[in-house]
Amino acid sequence: MTQRYQWPALTVGTCYYPEHWPEELWPDDLRRMLDSGITVIRVGEFAWSKFELHEGEFTFDFFDRFLDLCARIGMKVIFGTPTATPPAWLTEKYPEILNGTLDGVLYRHGGRKHYNYNAPIYQQLCARIVEQLARHYGHHPAIVGWQIDNEINCETCDFYSEADSAAFREFLREKYGTLDALNDAWGTVFWNQTYTDWAQIYVPRPTATHAVNPHLLLDYSRFVSDSAIRFCRIQADILRQHIAPGVYITTNGLFANLDNHRFEDECLDVMTYDSYPSFAFELDHPWNPGAMNDRGWSRMLAEVRSVCPHFGIMEQQSGANGWYNRMEGPAPRPGQLTLWAMQSVAHGADYVSFFRWRTCTVGTEIYWHGILDYDNRDNRRLQEVRAFADTLQRLKGVCGADSAARVALVKDYDNEWDARHDRWHQRVQQKSEAGVFEGAQRTHTPYDVVYLREITVLDELRRYDVLIYPHATILTPDRAALLTRYVEAGGTLMIGCRTGYKDEHGRCVMQPQPGLLRALAGANVRDFTFHSPAEEPPYALLDGERLETPLFNDVLEAESAMVLARYAAGYYAGEPALTENRVGKGRVLYLGAAFCPESTAQLLRRVKAAEPYGQLLRLPETVELTARRKDGRLYLFLLNYQPVPAECRIHAPAQALVRQETVQGAFTLPPYGVEVLTMEDSL
Ligand code: GLA
Repeated sequence: MTQRYQWPALTVGTCYYPEHWPEELWPDDLRRMLDSGITVIRVGEFAWSKFELHEGEFTFDFFDRFLDLCARIGMKVIFGTPTATPPAWLTEKYPEILNGTLDGVLYRHGGRKHYNYNAPIYQQLCARIVEQLARHYGHHPAIVGWQIDNEINCETCDFYSEADSAAFREFLREKYGTLDALNDAWGTVFWNQTYTDWAQIYVPRPTATHAVNPHLLLDYSRFVSDSAIRFCRIQADILRQHIAPGVYITTNGLFANLDNHRFEDECLDVMTYDSYPSFAFELDHPWNPGAMNDRGWSRMLAEVRSVCPHFGIMEQQSGANGWYNRMEGPAPRPGQLTLWAMQSVAHGADYVSFFRWRTCTVGTEIYWHGILDYDNRDNRRLQEVRAFADTLQRLKGVCGADSAARVALVKDYDNEWDARHDRWHQRVQQKSEAGVFEGAQRTHTPYDVVYLREITVLDELRRYDVLIYPHATILTPDRAALLTRYVEAGGTLMIGCRTGYKDEHGRCVMQPQPGLLRALAGANVRDFTFHSPAEEPPYALLDGERLETPLFNDVLEAESAMVLARYAAGYYAGEPALTENRVGKGRVLYLGAAFCPESTAQLLRRVKAAEPYGQLLRLPETVELTARRKDGRLYLFLLNYQPVPAECRIHAPAQALVRQETVQGAFTLPPYGVEVLTMEDSL
């Protein structure tokens, strides 16, 4: 990950659409924003027709007026390239730019993100509009950054147009060189799929089995990611030629079928994310005070931090969610808007931009509420934004502070994409990622996410005492070697069931599991099974305590490892469920199951990684703790997601930056309340 830009101070922004409002409102809007502590706005990302209403005829007067006003008033601007919404003339004249469904039905004009990345004419027309904008606005005094397109791979991350099939063939030719190599990698011998001409290869199409070759699907995900990055790279390269030094390139969101790390390295200076914590509520279910709900959104923020340690939030939820036809979500309760914005800062955001200044009165998103309502009066949400901006003034030292987590969830894109298509893998992966997150949350153990990439080096892993790599069904020799070095150097590695049975093409290897990690784990798998929902869920016993072993069980056989826990139910009762192998200065814990919150908490306690601040603080389980550190100071964020007060205790005096006093002993977080404690970083 290459973060080339960092915000010099914690900054508050909003998303503004000058094209949605009468011009007479602009000056008042901008002044009210500045009065509320908002110093940056993002504009332009859906406004192509304001610049090129007719093909090849460019006009800039509308945004000239707006940006000049911003410069006069002192508002800074992130300018969006408008390629997420091609104009009507474009899709009408060049339908080959449209994306479509698996069945070949095209997505038509009328929504957004209806284009594909690979149609040469769309690439050319995008390059042309971006070049026009970059030449015209590249040195505009109001502009501090550029956003490429909007939410890459949002709405859909699947592409099925003819242009995609053509580009897929090129991608595969480059990757495999010969059809023999491709046939071998894809196992096309099965069901007589052997290709004899590149022209016979397509992106996924409907089949009688409603399934296509899984090895093709893995390469298809890699191809979509590569296409998205190449598409954005065209824009990034043009912007870099024309924009003023110091002006950054970013884009927003984190979506599937995209190698976000490579994306940032190749196209962006800094990454931003769109944070809508109310997506994490299960709206169809009754409110469950014990559930993670909006706190669960922190999982996404940890993912963002893994791509870009000091990221921005381009869209921070500020009101109720809703399109006119879907995605309903209630308004944030008093305090919740601040809580969610602080959740972003707690996880590494140095820029927080609220979506959007005022709710739109027309179009699909009339219920996607902004800070202000249609009536444009000051309201409680604006008051919270103002107070949040004031609070950030007191958190100055936090800007650029790193995560202080000592535990990390390990991932990689091969397994991420394999789990999109492979249901066995997907079920354990989803269960474990949620389980590890929740187990870490409930024990107040800050955790990061680390992606293993070709360029990952040992030092990136050695920052962590514990790595949990739940289900690396695909293992490569490089990753196995890196993990071995991590363990030998003193790290604790935890792995789960289904590790190591596939190669990089998703083909199953003819070796005992966990394949390439067998020697490191000092154990192998003798038998395994999914659990039928009709069966009593199995469990194991660890030091006489119940250890949950949900969803899938590998029945382990210890080689050099010790057996720590044995199954206590099922036809394999008495067989090993958890082993520990000491290697060099470190160890590997091998759990023959998916991870759940309870087992994660138990294992973190066992390896003494749980509650790293337990000596200092006593917190209710319902409060989230995150830790950032910088220049010898530690910043502990405490976030109360409940509508009731949370009683906390601190054993040594600490400065509380939100309430601006020194706290020691008992103190209370109000409903939805937040506190940031700072102290010398002695751990
Ligand atoms: C996304 C987009 C915004 C807006 C919001 C609400 O995050 O980037 O343009 O559509 O969702 O739907």
